[in-house]
Parts: sequence; structure tokens; C-alpha cells
Amino acid sequence: MKKLEDYVVSIPDYPEPGIIFRDVTSILQDAEGLQLAIDSLQKKLEGLDFDVIAGTESRGFIFGMPIAYNLHKPFVLVRKKGKLPRETVSVSYDLEYGSAEIEMHKDSIKPGQKVVLIDDLIATGGTIEAAAKLVEQLGGEVVKIIFLMELAGLHGREKLSKYDVESVIRYEGK
Ligand code: PRP
Ligand code: MG
Repeated sequence: MKKLEDYVVSIPDYPEPGIIFRDVTSILQDAEGLQLAIDSLQKKLEGLDFDVIAGTESRGFIFGMPIAYNLHKPFVLVRKKGKLPRETVSVSYDLEYGSAEIEMHKDSIKPGQKVVLIDDLIATGGTIEAAAKLVEQLGGEVVKIIFLMELAGLHGREKLSKYDVESVIRYEGK
């Protein structure tokens, strides 16, 4: 039987020399790969008491939403700046070059709610750290963070030391 790793196509020197790009579209375009990805991520939540799943634009939407549907939980969106129509809270974070800003609707998390954060990948950890800050600004508690893939060589977990973090596939490099 194929493992999830077998569905990931790795592209050397993309988008820059020295970077190995781990492509999730190669998982999604295979029916078995897609099911295995969702099932493996969902397994990380077994026995966990939580209220809401939050996914980060855009690949976090793909993997977070089916799990919310399966577990009959609400799904809330962490979006890139300027996309949400109602009142928002926002957080800026550093990128390799420059900075970015993400937002959530103010009413998407109620104070005291237990929140699971989902994204496809942790690299530097900047995106998910910012998403966790947003949840906390809204009074939510981040009870778990799950990723399909982790680039361990970038040490993103160091930014997340106060959270319960798990990934399905761990790559030792960058
Ligand atoms: C990618 C990936 C994660 C993030 C990881 O998203 O999907 O969200 O980068 O990097 P970090 O740990 O260094 O923050 P990207 O911003 O490229 O956008 P996308 O999901 O819309 O493709
Ligand atoms: Mg992303």
C-alpha cells in the first residue's frame, strides 16, 4: 500500500535554487492520496475536545474544511489581508523578504472557544504563529496545531513551543 509520502512530488530548486518544493497538488489529484491526507490529519484530533477548526488561506482551507465537515465542527477562515467583508482583527508577520498580514472575522471565534489550527505545511512557522495570535486576540484557546508536512530544518516549531503541534510527514531538510 502506498504511504502519503509516496504521493508528494518534490521539485528541486523551486521557487528558488536550493529549495525543495513539496507539492500538495500531487496528493490532491489522486483519489487515494486525497483520502489518505484527510484521514491522516483527522487522526491527529482523535479524542481531542475542541469547538472550532481554523484554516489558513489558501492551502489550509483545502485540508481543514473536510475535517470540520467530517467532525461536525465549524470552519473559520484565516485570510490574507483585504478579503473578509465584515469587521476583522489582523496580525502582521515577517516573510523572508518583507511582511504579510492576515485577518479573521471578529465574530468567527467566541471567547473561551477551543480552536484547532490547520495548514498544509510549516516552514518558518511565521504564518501559523500569526494565525495563533489572531485566535488569541479573539479570546480563543489554541488547543492543537496540525500540519500535513513539516520542514524540520527551518525550525518553525521553535516559534510554537507553547502549543501542541503535530505533523503527518516530517522532512528533515528545508
Ligand atoms: C505556504 C504554506 C503555509 C506557509 C508556510 O503558504 O501553505 O501556509 O507557506 O510557511 P511559513 O511556515 O514559513 O509561514 P503561502 O503563503 O505560500 O500561500 P498559499 O497557502 O496560499 O499557497
Ligand atoms: Mg499557505
